[in-house]
Amino acid sequence: MKVGFIGFGEVASTLARGLLDKGVEVYTCVDGRSPRTKKIADKIGVNLTKSYLELVKVSDIVISAAIPSQAINVAREVGKQYKGIYVDINNVSPSTVGEIQTLLGNKKMVDAAIIGSIRKKGLKAHIIASGVYAELFARLNDYGMNITVIGNEVGQASSIKILRSSYTKGVSALLLESLYSAYKMGIDDQVLKYIAETECPEFSESATSRIISSPFHAKRRSEEMDEVVKLISENIDPLISKATAEFFRSLSRKMDKLDERPRNIKEIFHLLDKMNKD
Ligand SMILES: NC(=O)c1ccc[n+]([C@@H]2O[C@H](COP(=O)([O-])OP(=O)(O)OC[C@H]3O[C@@H](n4cnc5c(N)ncnc54)[C@H](OP(=O)(O)O)[C@@H]3O)[C@@H](O)[C@H]2O)c1
Repeated sequence: MKVGFIGFGEVASTLARGLLDKGVEVYTCVDGRSPRTKKIADKIGVNLTKSYLELVKVSDIVISAAIPSQAINVAREVGKQYKGIYVDINNVSPSTVGEIQTLLGNKKMVDAAIIGSIRKKGLKAHIIASGVYAELFARLNDYGMNITVIGNEVGQASSIKILRSSYTKGVSALLLESLYSAYKMGIDDQVLKYIAETECPEFSESATSRIISSPFHAKRRSEEMDEVVKLISENIDPLISKATAEFFRSLSRKMDKLDERPRNIKEIFHLLDKMNKD
């Protein structure tokens, strides 16, 4: 089995590491990519192709794991040239997935969405997939992945994922804003404690994890929220999701030089204080 990743950040490198351990041949192309991506690919020891064309020709399964705003460009670049199946795992709206399908010439395409944290679960992260060819993608379960086929139509998996994102990213933004404000008043620990008392005992841990990952992935999250806005606008006025998208955009402007994930909430608040002073 040969799997090729387009984009080699957190998602691709985590899945690649697990698949390599299970004996899968894993490929990516780092041509034109940033030093961060090149460093990750080097560390994981993935096979490198000279071009994206070579990558999609060699792979039985091509997985697009770039950033939401590039999902369409990636599909345009690959065009109709891949030989196996094409899986889009980016957090994009069903209408974007539809555009991708058209660009690929309605060939073998799978709509896939990661549910939960890839960083915590690794190769076992739950992935939902839809489309006529989703069962072919789910063959990677034989190599340790955790893929559930949820339907035959491209767009089903991304719709679920996007509406789930609306909730999870909205809560993350609300937590960061409320607790940063509480920190300024010296009461952040108490506020978190009493929110957890209102929600459930495990809430503090998940809230902390959401806040810590927010600045590090702010740019990607703002783009994911743009996709949420796109989907919700098809039905109703997306007031909260628009505000969440703007929140992450503003955070990414402040934190754009952040190379490493902050270790705790206080470190984020210190950084925000520093950025706000600069
Ligand atoms: N991380 C998660 O837990 C998670 C969960 C659910 C869904 N997702 C989705 O999975 C996708 C990947 O997420 P991630 O966390 O791995 O992101 P990431 O760490 O930011 O990595 C993105 C990768 O895509 C590359 N890239 C950007 N534009 C590209 C292009 N035009 N062609 C080829 N490669 C390109 C980046 O290269 P450079 O370094 O050169 O920019 C980088 O290697 C995203 O669409 C995200 O929405 C992620």
